[in-house]
Amino acid sequence: MSILSGTSRLAGITGWPVTHSRSPRLHGFWLRRHGIDGAYMPLGMKPEDFGIAIRGLVALGFRGCNVTQPHKLAAFDICDEVEDFARRAGAVNTLTFADGKISGRNTDGYGFVAHLRASGVDFTAGPALVLGAGGSARAIVAALQDEGVRVSIANRTRARADELASALPGLRVLDWDARSDALRDHAVLVNTTSLGMAGQNALEIDLDRAATRLAVADIVYVPLETPLLEAARARGMVAVDGLGMLLHQAVPGFATWFDVTPVVDEELRRFVASDLIDAA
Ligand SMILES: NC(=O)c1ccc[n+]([C@@H]2O[C@H](COP(=O)([O-])OP(=O)(O)OC[C@H]3O[C@@H](n4cnc5c(N)ncnc54)[C@H](OP(=O)(O)O)[C@@H]3O)[C@@H](O)[C@H]2O)c1
Repeated sequence: MSILSGTSRLAGITGWPVTHSRSPRLHGFWLRRHGIDGAYMPLGMKPEDFGIAIRGLVALGFRGCNVTQPHKLAAFDICDEVEDFARRAGAVNTLTFADGKISGRNTDGYGFVAHLRASGVDFTAGPALVLGAGGSARAIVAALQDEGVRVSIANRTRARADELASALPGLRVLDWDARSDALRDHAVLVNTTSLGMAGQNALEIDLDRAATRLAVADIVYVPLETPLLEAARARGMVAVDGLGMLLHQAVPGFATWFDVTPVVDEELRRFVASDLIDAA
């Protein structure tokens, strides 16, 4: 652990609970790598304390913080300004405090797309099929649309997918039961459901109905290699795991709070992944 000075830069992650978060480990790695006089802390806050606790961080001179559940919606109300992408994504996950003002943004979509790009996925190859319509799906759909990708969505509860489509014009809604058949018309498949997570059932989908160039991304990262990704790799498809999204989404916040743009590389992946192996 580094020794702090009187002018250390401070940031952290707010959530309730926050004990499961890998963000302190991730940001701590970069702080150490760059020899920065700063700290990134777990900041457990009950929902009813969120507003006062954030104002407290501002008063204490924090540079900002990440926001995880259950605060991603409440974070809108505390912001003086919110970037347009966060509004489309329906959630704020990164706060910056400067000149007495609180600014909010969402970096999940950026993280997802940056990892896909780093994994060599070609966005121009064809439409993307996103499974799931939860909080992360919305940011991912918005980010893919911003890349000019045509996006379809299928969710077990159709009404949630319809709701998402009314928030994000151009999004096509398919029936959950049509997901395997739909693969032949898509170049990218993204699992944003919790299926495949440790302790949950695997996602059922017949990858053999896909066009051969299909790229498969799973945002679940415990385990790192989900049954879906195993099935994709076994067929020679591009398989993109969920850890990269987690690492890349952290880059913009770190750059703002600590004035260094960090790099996502193999050493960082290994360091964060070693913690996930114990969790799976
Ligand atoms: N890699 C990353 O950086 C990152 C970031 C955020 C989240 N995640 C992971 O992404 C997953 C989803 O997170 P979230 O925040 O979007 O969750 P969420 O808002 O709770 O949404 C969960 C989604 O999973 C679907 N689902 C759950 N159980 C299902 C089942 N048995 N059959 C079919 N669909 C089912 C839900 O469908 P219904 O609407 O029908 O309930 C919903 O679409 C989690 O595993 C989380 O750990 C990863």
